[in-house]
Amino acid sequence: MMNEEIIELDSGKYIVSKTDSKGIITYGNDYFVEISGYTESELIGQPHNMIRHPDMPKIIFKILWERLKGGENMIAVVKNLSKDGRTYWVTTEFETKRDRLTNEITGYTAFRKAASHKAIDEITPLYKTLKDIENKFDVESSLKYLTGYLEEKNKGYDEYMDDVIENRGIFKIFFKAMKKIFG
Ligand SMILES: Cc1cc2nc3c(=O)[nH]c(=O)nc-3n(C[C@H](O)[C@H](O)[C@H](O)COP(=O)(O)O)c2cc1C
Repeated sequence: MMNEEIIELDSGKYIVSKTDSKGIITYGNDYFVEISGYTESELIGQPHNMIRHPDMPKIIFKILWERLKGGENMIAVVKNLSKDGRTYWVTTEFETKRDRLTNEITGYTAFRKAASHKAIDEITPLYKTLKDIENKFDVESSLKYLTGYLEEKNKGYDEYMDDVIENRGIFKIFFKAMKKIFG
């Protein structure tokens, strides 16, 4: 593997961005702008995949979009790429925003916090396997692998994620607070 430079995130700060219903960035907080390495005007109006890291398996985003379009929220551990090619790991909660009157989906918000070392250690080999399967075969095959992986653990995706990121106590309170501020 290539020697990659990893940005150590400030665990007291959060990275927030918002998109329209198509995944075009409409907002980024100061920490998002700082860590991404782009200026605010370089980010706004661009598709959110501009910070996608090539190590991220396609299947995770496929599941993400299916869930968001269905109005469901989702948590994922995501590896991102900054403008200068450095990487950073975040635990991200993706949320659907709806119009109060029409109930139509108007956009999405992502709340991110530095991923714990435990979460990174757990998810790295899984993502590597999913990515290898996608390179050799296809996304359907990586979904099959992921499904089997979760079945073996006897957990649904959300339950598994709650374990991986230790989604309880302080962590839950933190995400709730962020939503109050940015939701
Ligand atoms: C609110 C929101 C935030 C997102 N944040 C990220 C992110 O931090 N990193 C990322 O790679 N993709 C993010 N995505 C997913 C991207 O839209 C995209 O699906 C992903 O980068 C994969 O690229 P692709 O769909 O072109 O394959 C986000 C999507 C939404 C709706």
